[in-house]
Amino acid sequence: MKNTTEIQDRIFDDIRRFELYDAAQSYGQQYLDEVFDRPVYPSEAALDGLCVFDEELSEDATSGEQIIDQLHQYGAPATLTQVGGRYFGFVNGSILPASLAAKILTAYWDQNGAMQVLSPISARLEMTVEKWLVDLFGLPDNTAAGFVSGSSMASFCGLAAARYRIYKNQGWDVNEHGLRNAPPIRIFTGKDAHSTIRKAISLLGFGQSNVEWVDVDDQGRIQVDQVPALDDRTILILQAGNVNSGSFDNFGALCKKAKDAGAWIHIDGAFGLWAAAVPNLKWLVNGLEHGTSWAVDAHKTLNAPYDSGIILCADREALVSALHMSGGYIVKGDDRDGMFYTPEMSRRARIFELWAALKYLGKKGIAQMISTMCLRAHQLTEKLSLVEGFEIPNQVVFNQVLVKAESDLKTDQVLKAIQEERVCWVGGSTWKGERVIRVSICSWATTYDDIVKTAASFEKAIKSVGVNV
Ligand SMILES: Cc1ncc(COP(=O)(O)O)c(C=O)c1O
Repeated sequence: MKNTTEIQDRIFDDIRRFELYDAAQSYGQQYLDEVFDRPVYPSEAALDGLCVFDEELSEDATSGEQIIDQLHQYGAPATLTQVGGRYFGFVNGSILPASLAAKILTAYWDQNGAMQVLSPISARLEMTVEKWLVDLFGLPDNTAAGFVSGSSMASFCGLAAARYRIYKNQGWDVNEHGLRNAPPIRIFTGKDAHSTIRKAISLLGFGQSNVEWVDVDDQGRIQVDQVPALDDRTILILQAGNVNSGSFDNFGALCKKAKDAGAWIHIDGAFGLWAAAVPNLKWLVNGLEHGTSWAVDAHKTLNAPYDSGIILCADREALVSALHMSGGYIVKGDDRDGMFYTPEMSRRARIFELWAALKYLGKKGIAQMISTMCLRAHQLTEKLSLVEGFEIPNQVVFNQVLVKAESDLKTDQVLKAIQEERVCWVGGSTWKGERVIRVSICSWATTYDDIVKTAASFEKAIKSVGVNV
């Protein structure tokens, strides 16, 4: 009897054909060589080239080389140069060299982060990084960390833990009995909460119309005097970093009071929680240590690769109970099984790149990198304030700059002209009822020269549309 099948023969032949991986790596390196000078948004020709992917799945095999060639030739030109210094869309980070290298190395390992028995190295690094983050953000001892795909999932987990704990304290096991006939929970959050908070509320069955939306000020911060008396059956959701203005809620005034009342405080700090790791920006998050759960991304401000979000929860038992699962075949580790801290069971062991990013920078490097992002935001603000026709409607406290022209129409036309020039990429948004251009400085790579080029592109754009509007 033949020992192997045809498909096995083929894969055995390929798996140690190192030229295949060398090709992938050399294409990757070529990409890095060009990415800092390339147009930020793909050219029309590159976008048209994507039609090569509109193909039926073939009956016959394709070689690894052909696959990698196709990706490089047609995929790479159709990427946004997020790795470079002039991509300012949404809130997206670049990538750090050690994280990229760790990602490449550990891709060979293909580890599943579900259980210690599945990957002792993943479990060990999750424990290490949990300690590092608790220290870095100044959170209560024994705060638990779950390594999830992003802040959407982190907030979902934090609010699931809140739901579990509040009901449990009232003698109601929500895992067992669900929401039907459950005692009421009141949820308060600001009218400018991120849409992923709304999504988590929907997914958890609370219903968005049951949320009590608190008025916010002109920067999107919760108005402290509008928050009513809280108690141990309430969840207060705050924000460290508004997705548009970059503003921070007043944790000093809100957290201690809410904590003393027994409320659960969830803080969405997708990109802004990192201010806690920066001595000269720490004032933005004073009081945040009184929170109960925190959502933060490593793929944004820290510049770890996608997908890397973290749920931090001071109530370890609530988090683990909310995300608990069991089964006869599950092997509980002596230390840590990642799946008890995340919604998924099987999951890419994403901790390697996060661990590498933190270790590569060290505390000082993290602080310097994030301070530099903020410095660039101030430099851009200064430059654009000097351009006739632009106004900056937000107080620039972190990495977000909003820019508007004299009318919504003109703002949108300027935005389009900037995007078409491709020197940088910025997105649009609506802020306090008016159209704005959003600039989010989130890359380690943004230099002063990038700011000069970006400001010049803005100026050119406003001049080009000026006569038409
Ligand atoms: C404040 C805030 N919360 C949540 C999110 C969602 O994060 P993710 O895309 O990692 O799920 C974002 C994304 O920009 C954000 O800015």
